[in-house]
Amino acid sequence: MFSLNKNIAVIRGDGIGPEIVNQALKVLDKVAELYGHTFTYTDVDMGGCAIDKYGEPLPEAELKKCLESDSVLLGAVGGDKWNDVPGDKRPEKGLLKLRAGMGVYSNNRPAKIWPQLSSASPLKKSIVDAGIDFIIVRELIGGIYFGEHKTEGDVATDVLKYSEAEIERIGRIGFETARKRNKKLCSVEKSNVLDSSRLWKKVMHRLAEEYPDIELSDMLVDNCAMQIVKNPAQFDVVVTENMFGDILSDEASMITGSIGMIPSSSLGSSSCGLYEPIHGSAPDIAGKDMANPIGTILSAAMMLRFSFDMPDEATAIENAVSEYLDKGYRTADIMSEGGNLVGCSKCGELICENLRKGC
Ligand code: IPM
Ligand code: MG
Repeated sequence: MFSLNKNIAVIRGDGIGPEIVNQALKVLDKVAELYGHTFTYTDVDMGGCAIDKYGEPLPEAELKKCLESDSVLLGAVGGDKWNDVPGDKRPEKGLLKLRAGMGVYSNNRPAKIWPQLSSASPLKKSIVDAGIDFIIVRELIGGIYFGEHKTEGDVATDVLKYSEAEIERIGRIGFETARKRNKKLCSVEKSNVLDSSRLWKKVMHRLAEEYPDIELSDMLVDNCAMQIVKNPAQFDVVVTENMFGDILSDEASMITGSIGMIPSSSLGSSSCGLYEPIHGSAPDIAGKDMANPIGTILSAAMMLRFSFDMPDEATAIENAVSEYLDKGYRTADIMSEGGNLVGCSKCGELICENLRKGC
């Protein structure tokens, strides 16, 4: 077992961001203590708080701190306060600049139901019992998010563009992810309408020849939205473009009980990744110690597994979360079936108490 030194760029952001990130840092500190690693944290301002301080959502100097780190942990950005800021200066623009600046084209969003929370799913028991365990691989730095945006008079335009190379690199991640799981890849697009989707489909089928062990299927995005609630057990890995992945991952998270539980990793060609829960900044509950920090805590676990090659440490965090749920503790978002109500900070503490080396 080696002791490692890692420098983590920490973006607390807006709304509930600071509260949830602080819980993940408590957990990382406990992991460092148990396993003899050293994690140092570099604070980075991004989002609405950066607009207030510097007049822009991600100044170059803040982005540089992220690029020089071993990985980035992010809470959430945005809020009503910055709603009237012009489009190119909005808090979300900071996040898009960060993703593009880091080159993290591959966003991995698991939709897995925790057995302890199966009754929190809005789906029928028979559907939940068939199993919900799939991953959405979302292209993250292309498509309509990064095409030209303009408003001229009463006409607004957003350009959706993909090159074969952009599709191929995310397609490969889809196939490789499926190879490590149940070898089923569902490529989701809108090829009955969009040229970019027809290209997407063509590239996926070309790649399929290199992955004969993977069963590739095609699905139109509107059908996929329906299938996720009708029969989620059919999915193993879903690969899709940026905007479809944004929408489908919110839907997929909700059928597992709460969007507050879902982590994500975003990686490019280096080991420096971006790790963030998939939910937003929830300004309505910010500062009330009510938020669920588990999505962020599990994002920190993903950082250990995917960027720092610390699989045992990552598993220890996941087991500590599972034990917390076993004991019946619940933040407000997953209280629908009762339980022992705890706040954000207490949730972090209880998960730390469950952390043990080698389990
Ligand atoms: C997400 C979010 C972001 C996105 C927003 C905040 C720009 O919804 O990470 O899913 O659309 O990618
Ligand atoms: Mg989203």
